[in-house]
Amino acid sequence: MSNPVDAMQMDQAAAESVLMCQGLGMTYAEGKLRTPVFDGLDLAVRKGETVAILGASGAGKSTLLHLLGGLDTPTAGEVFVAGQRMSALSDKARGTLRNHALGFVYQFHHLLPEFTALENVMLPVLLGGADVAEGRRRATGLLEAVGLSHRLQHKPGELSGGERQRAAVARALVNRPACVLGDEPTGNLDEKTASIVFDLMLGLNREQGTSLVLVTHDRRLARRLDRVMELHEGKLRQLARDEV
Ligand SMILES: Nc1ncnc2c1ncn2[C@@H]1O[C@H](COP(=O)(O)OP(=O)(O)OP(=O)(O)O)[C@@H](O)[C@H]1O
Ligand SMILES: [Mg+2]
Repeated sequence: MSNPVDAMQMDQAAAESVLMCQGLGMTYAEGKLRTPVFDGLDLAVRKGETVAILGASGAGKSTLLHLLGGLDTPTAGEVFVAGQRMSALSDKARGTLRNHALGFVYQFHHLLPEFTALENVMLPVLLGGADVAEGRRRATGLLEAVGLSHRLQHKPGELSGGERQRAAVARALVNRPACVLGDEPTGNLDEKTASIVFDLMLGLNREQGTSLVLVTHDRRLARRLDRVMELHEGKLRQLARDEV
């Protein structure tokens, strides 16, 4: 970024979006094995905007979401969360920003096995500095909304796959993040439960202006979002409405 005008325009774009990447690239390297996944990806997600990401298995969707969520470091380019350049922050500051601004639903839920569903969902609230009563109130409300009020005291190992996924969705939403990143957040769910969880996220979008970036294989769900992008052969392309 040698040109100061470019740098200024980029700062402006970053400030207007909840999440942005510029020239994003990732090549995994382990020993002699190099796996280039994508390069030069640009994406800006505005406040209140909903974006679907489609793409074949292995296209790099999870990799992209992890980079956008600051869970992994890109090999090229920059990620901005709420206008802040992730690479310029300390690990601690990055963690705080992530906990405050983003909610993440992983493809493989990542709940803490030693804690109950209720505790797993309360944890981000407590990390954000709220007291236990407030954490319990918000966590219970969301677990109820995803249909798990009868499973509050179950540990992840005592929940079904879909129940774990719903607990993970509740955990991602509990801090009322500016943007939720979901890696196939309804992938393991039956149609009715998927639709309840999807409606919950869209409701949050409508009522609180939460932005959504959702990886999905379900084109019917993708069509309900503002914008549909496809990751294909290392490039990110916006699909026209009639292509979805
Ligand atoms: N840690 C890693 N080291 C090396 N290669 C990796 C690593 N993680 C992912 N890959 C490779 O990067 C590519 C993209 O993986 P990614 O998990 O992002 O795909 P995906 O689009 O999410 O696929 P799916 O729809 O199956 O979840 C794959 O070819 C995968 O083998
Ligand atoms: Mg994936």
